[in-house]
Amino acid sequence: SHDLRTPLASIRAAAGSLLQDEIEWDPETRREFAAAIDEEAARLNRLVGNLLDLSRVEGGALHPRKELYPLDALIRAAVERLAGHLAGRRLDIDLPPDLPPVPLDPVQIDQVLTNLLENAIKYTPDGAPIAVMAAVDGGGDAVIVSVADRGPGIPPAERAQVFDKFYRLRGNAHAAGTGLGLAIARRLVEAHGGRIWVDDHPGGGARFNLSLPLSAEAYGMNAPAWGDGAALDRPGVVAAGTVAARGAGPSRDA
Ligand SMILES: Nc1ncnc2c1ncn2[C@@H]1O[C@H](COP(=O)(O)OP(=O)(O)OP(=O)(O)O)[C@@H](O)[C@H]1O
Ligand SMILES: [Mg+2]
Repeated sequence: SHDLRTPLASIRAAAGSLLQDEIEWDPETRREFAAAIDEEAARLNRLVGNLLDLSRVEGGALHPRKELYPLDALIRAAVERLAGHLAGRRLDIDLPPDLPPVPLDPVQIDQVLTNLLENAIKYTPDGAPIAVMAAVDGGGDAVIVSVADRGPGIPPAERAQVFDKFYRLRGNAHAAGTGLGLAIARRLVEAHGGRIWVDDHPGGGARFNLSLPLSAEAYGMNAPAWGDGAALDRPGVVAAGTVAARGAGPSRDA
């Protein structure tokens, strides 16, 4: 469940202790209180950011601004941004050289990929490899992107529910999270006319997949505002990271 009160209570308790005039805390204890405040504030920031994203997506305020975009570059940029969190684990990227550009909103699809990659890092053991692949589906009318890991996987009975808001698997509750990432991802992908689902990674682990339709006309693509192929030169587009970062609200940490 989403609980704004727990981190708030921790922050108030730590701040209250620091503010007690009659107690002289030693420096180490003071630091611990400050660290607790910092940590809980970060948790709160994440939760509020996700709640804002979710309310925007649910309110229909997030129409994808689609442009024909090089999906391979989007994937590589998302992976690169998370490189610091890989802690030595292998991340294999398997992209066909002839992957066509895809009509998509780069900020929104980046947010989807980033959550899938963060989950693959968060919910699998240190050192477990991650694989990202993309391919045009058999009929040629969609691109499918998969993020596959070697973690515990998602039990079949919960594969639909993990995309519900606030749903988290029991065994995973130790990892920081709000249970909103996949719910937001599903709405963003569906707003693109696509689908997102999870299945087994052959050989063990979870494999999250999303399909994005390739036919621009059917899904109301905007005219490319930046000219053919120039999308990658737009500063900040890929780095924006969150839906909120595009100016619709306060920015936040990832
Ligand atoms: N790759 C994975 N392997 C195992 N379990 C996963 C994986 N990805 C997601 N899960 C489970 O699905 C739940 C929902 O994921 P989701 O991304 O929606 O939320 P979260 O990661 O808990 O929080 P956040 O809102 O910060 O993303 C997770 O809490 C976790 O239990
Ligand atoms: Mg997540």
